[in-house]
This record gives sequence, structure tokens and C-alpha cells, in this order.
Amino acid sequence: MAAEPVSLPTTGELRAALEQAAGWIARYLEDVDSLPVLARVKPGEVAAALPEHPPAHGEPLEAIMADLDRIIVPGLTHWNHPGFMAYFGITGSPPGILGETIAAALNVNAMLWRTSPAATELEQVTMRWAAELLGLPAGWFGQITDTASSSTLWALAAAREAAGLDIRTRGMAARDDLPPLRVYTSREAHSSVEKACIVLGFGQEGLVKIPTDDEYRMRPDALREAVAADVAAGRRPIAAVPTVGTTSSTSIDPVAEVADVCAEHGMWLHVDAAYGGAAAVVPELRGVLAGCERADSLVVNPHKWLLTPIDCSLLYTARPDDMRAAFSVVPEYLRTSEEDVVNLMDYGVALGRRFRSLKLWMVLRAYGADGLAAIVSGHIDLARRLEAAVRAEPGWELLAPVPFSTVCFRRRPEGVDDEAELRALNEAILDRVNASGRALVSHTDLGGRYALRVAIGNAATTAEHVDRAWDLLRSAA
Ligand SMILES: Cc1ncc(COP(=O)(O)O)c(C=O)c1O
Repeated sequence: MAAEPVSLPTTGELRAALEQAAGWIARYLEDVDSLPVLARVKPGEVAAALPEHPPAHGEPLEAIMADLDRIIVPGLTHWNHPGFMAYFGITGSPPGILGETIAAALNVNAMLWRTSPAATELEQVTMRWAAELLGLPAGWFGQITDTASSSTLWALAAAREAAGLDIRTRGMAARDDLPPLRVYTSREAHSSVEKACIVLGFGQEGLVKIPTDDEYRMRPDALREAVAADVAAGRRPIAAVPTVGTTSSTSIDPVAEVADVCAEHGMWLHVDAAYGGAAAVVPELRGVLAGCERADSLVVNPHKWLLTPIDCSLLYTARPDDMRAAFSVVPEYLRTSEEDVVNLMDYGVALGRRFRSLKLWMVLRAYGADGLAAIVSGHIDLARRLEAAVRAEPGWELLAPVPFSTVCFRRRPEGVDDEAELRALNEAILDRVNASGRALVSHTDLGGRYALRVAIGNAATTAEHVDRAWDLLRSAA
């Protein structure tokens, strides 16, 4: 039986669809404020609206776009909404959207220098630019990964290899010569550190969560004691992971003091600055990364607070040779003749690598150092405004200092001290605000206390949006 000729979308159709999409994207960004931030669909509703089976024949792009409006958009929680203040507010900015779109058209793979020299070299250059903007050491090697979770995993894999235990070759199983290995982070560290320890065979028991002080910062004295106790017991400290901008309260661990402990014990220092590192684009805030110049590796996420559409995570290392030693495997079919080039596949798990530097390059060029600094410091000012409002309002309580653009607080009517009652009260407030569709706020636990958490990070968020969220919170109370 002769096969039917397949009719593929033509470039003419693509042009028309892209012109339509350009209007669609601009309208979306102009109107997103009028959409409910939190999706209003019930579980399974989107899936039920989609056909059970894949289409037997190709469909016109127009029909697909119509379903985007009809089925997909109503099922979205709008992260690019100025009222989005949950988790960490983020921005898919116009230059970032442009870079992402063009990267899809180019569809290059920066696995080897040869497979796209400009993609590899632009990645190296944008990483150097970002280091300069953040005041990080000029000589560090950088690569772009998908997420901070991957960056931290890669970094701790390098740390494990750098410990000289030959784990790359011999593995970890059934080895009498291998002491229990330990990684240290704070109780407030992101779960990605724990996941990395699970994947790398340190195990959850191999991750020591150091207590924090009353401002949620890792206690260096407790770190020092924990490391000494482990060494005395024959365990082997491998790495410490302090955080600049912890996920719950955005506290800043004392990186320089953690670096001292690492230096004393030959441990790898990996800094998780996924969120807070971005603040260093503001020249007066460079100090947030104090001590980080002593790191072996550091992650910062432009897809959090630097206007770049997800995904884009920057992984720096002062020890690229150790990262290569952890990961480089070159089969014949990937061997190339160029010398003195960077083949990015050698520095992580992924072979195929998206052209993420293109959108970062467009963001850095379109905003410039002063534009980025103005947006980030504007968010910090908005957070200070909210912090002041919470402090001034009777029956509300601030729960943590506000070093960046995230405010943690709760409703606490006079005379109510019971934690379970306060949790229920604040949970109800959160649900009411989020159901309004006008703002999206998230929550966390701070020292056993339920905290409401407002995290400002969208470039379109103004004082009006923050005041609106605060009004909604107060009326919900
Ligand atoms: C401090 C910190 N580290 C790491 C992560 C993980 O980031 P990603 O989603 O890029 O893996 C987060 C996410 O919010 C975070 O807050």
C-alpha cells in the first residue's frame, strides 16, 4: 500500500504562526495581570479535555493554537503574573523570550565545541560576564545547567571525586577501605542538597544538617563541632554547602567561616546562591557573596531573579579539572581533533545541551548591569515596604529578617499562642488570598512556626501589586 504523502507545516505556515504567536505573547504579557494567578482547574480536568489518543493525521497549527487558549491557558498557574509572589517570583522577560524562541529555531547542541562553536563560546563568555556582574572571581570556569538541583549534584560529584577515593572507577559498594562519607549543610538548606546526597551514594545519613541561629543562618561553631566529631569517629568529611538566600527565609550562611572549616579539613566548599546570588548585581549588595571567592563551586540561577526564562542555572567552579575528572567519558564517536577547546559534555552528566546562553546573552545585553541592578533593588525596596507594613500592623508578626525580596510573617492575634491554632488561622488566610486569583503567596515552616511567605521577583510587580496582596491578606484575616 502506497503511503499517503505527509503534509508537514511549511515555513510559510511557520511564518504566519510566528506572527500570530508574536501577537499572542505580547497580548499575554499585557493582559496576564487580569488572569487568576493560581489555576482554577480541578485535578484531571486538563487531561480530560484532551483527546484520549494522539492524532492520526497532522493538524493545522491554527487548531493547535486554538486549543492552547481553550484548554491549556486556563489550566496554568501564571508564574509571569505580577501578582505571583509564591516560592520565588520569576520573570520570563522579553529578551529572554526572544532568546528562547530563536534557540528553538537554531536547535543546536553544545555538547562538543565542534557541534556548535558559538554556543560553547557564548556560554563561556556569558558565564564570565555574569561572574563580573556578581563580583565573582574572574578565573572561574562556568557552565550553564538546567537547574540548581543539577548544578549542586554536579558540584558534589566533583567534590566526591576530588576526595581521592577513586569512586569513579571502583564505585562505593562493598569497599572495606571506604569510610562513611559526610556532607554538611544547614537545616534550612534546599532539598536539592539532600537529593544530590541520595544520588551520589552518600545517603541521607551522609548529610549532616547543621543547626542554625535565631536568624536561620548555619552556626559555624556547630559545623566545626560536627566535623570534628565525625573525624574522631573515623568518618570522612567531603563537602560543605552553605546557602546565600535560603529557600524559606532567605537567610545568608556565614560562608567565610564555613570556608575556614573546609580549608582545615580539605573539604570542598559548594555555595548554593541559587536565589540570593542575584542580589550581587546591585553594587551596594556585593557583600552578600562575601567569602564566596573561596568556594570550589557556586550556583546562581538567572531563572530565579535575573529575568531569564526557566531553565538557566549557572554553575561555577574554581576546579574545572576536578569536574572533568568526575565526568569526562569520551567514546570514539565523540572524539574530535581540536585541541585547546572546551567540550562542555566533559563537565556534567548531560551530553545534549540546550543553547541556554543565547537567552542569557540577550537578557544581559538588553538590561545591562544598571538595568538588572535597578530591577533587583526595586524588588528589595518593595519587600522593605511590605516588611514595614507588617511591622506596623497590630496582630501581625514578622518571622525573619528580610535580607532580599522575600518577607516571612504571620497573623497572630493578641493572646493567641497555640501553634496549631495559628497554623490553622494562617492556612485559611493563605487559601482565601490564593483563591482570589489576584495574588499568589506561599508558606513555609520557620522553627516550628507556620509562616506566610511573600517573594517578590517578577519584573512587572509594582508597589500596587504588593499593596494589593497585603490588603488581601488583611481582609482574609
Ligand atoms: C536556595 C535554593 N537552592 C536550590 C533551589 C533549586 O532550584 P532549581 O529549581 O533550579 O533546581 C532552590 C529552589 O527554589 C532554592 O531556593
